[in-house]
Amino acid sequence: MIVGSRREGNCYHLMKRISDGLSRERISTDVIIPGNQKIYLCTGCMDCDRNGVCDFNDAMQSNIDKINNSEVLIFITPTRWNTMSGDLKIFIDRLNPLYSVKKLKDKKVIALVVGSKKHTEYSTDGALTSLGSFVESAEAKLIYENQFDNCLDFTDILGQEEKINEVIKDIVKCIG
Ligand SMILES: Cc1cc2nc3c(=O)[nH]c(=O)nc-3n(C[C@H](O)[C@H](O)[C@H](O)COP(=O)(O)O)c2cc1C
Repeated sequence: MIVGSRREGNCYHLMKRISDGLSRERISTDVIIPGNQKIYLCTGCMDCDRNGVCDFNDAMQSNIDKINNSEVLIFITPTRWNTMSGDLKIFIDRLNPLYSVKKLKDKKVIALVVGSKKHTEYSTDGALTSLGSFVESAEAKLIYENQFDNCLDFTDILGQEEKINEVIKDIVKCIG
């Protein structure tokens, strides 16, 4: 699970609930919060296009191993300016070493997005589209997506208990 917000807010709480729910079904999860890690910005040098290796020595080395070894990636991002968070985009840029050796091809991806506005305003659609575009260009497989609107304060999402439980059930069905 890759969480695109570094605050212990809605994405974090959603991750916790899903992780607990999956653990009850004996599905193990590992969590990466890019905003709490030391991750250099991709310079676009393209060295990784030649050999699948990034020259930077930072948290992405172990992240890339985790991503490579996982069966399913669950991205959870807050909507920021109608797109995914910057923390998540920085992380995704640094996945190019995996893309260049076709290791993201057919990887199963779940996209969950959170936003503060009503669905009819600039809420979660933009974030979902941006994540979907990444999945498409990585030649990965989007197996499930969902969105949580009306979440502004840290724990607002916990007021959407029924929906969270539905999403957990859906995810278990998709990957179980
Ligand atoms: C810089 C910034 C831009 C934001 N832009 C949007 C937006 O375009 N649409 C929206 O619905 N919410 C927007 N939000 C609100 C967050 O998506 C919302 O508060 C979300 O629940 C935060 O998730 P978190 O608690 O996991 O950090 C924005 C928040 C920030 C800080």
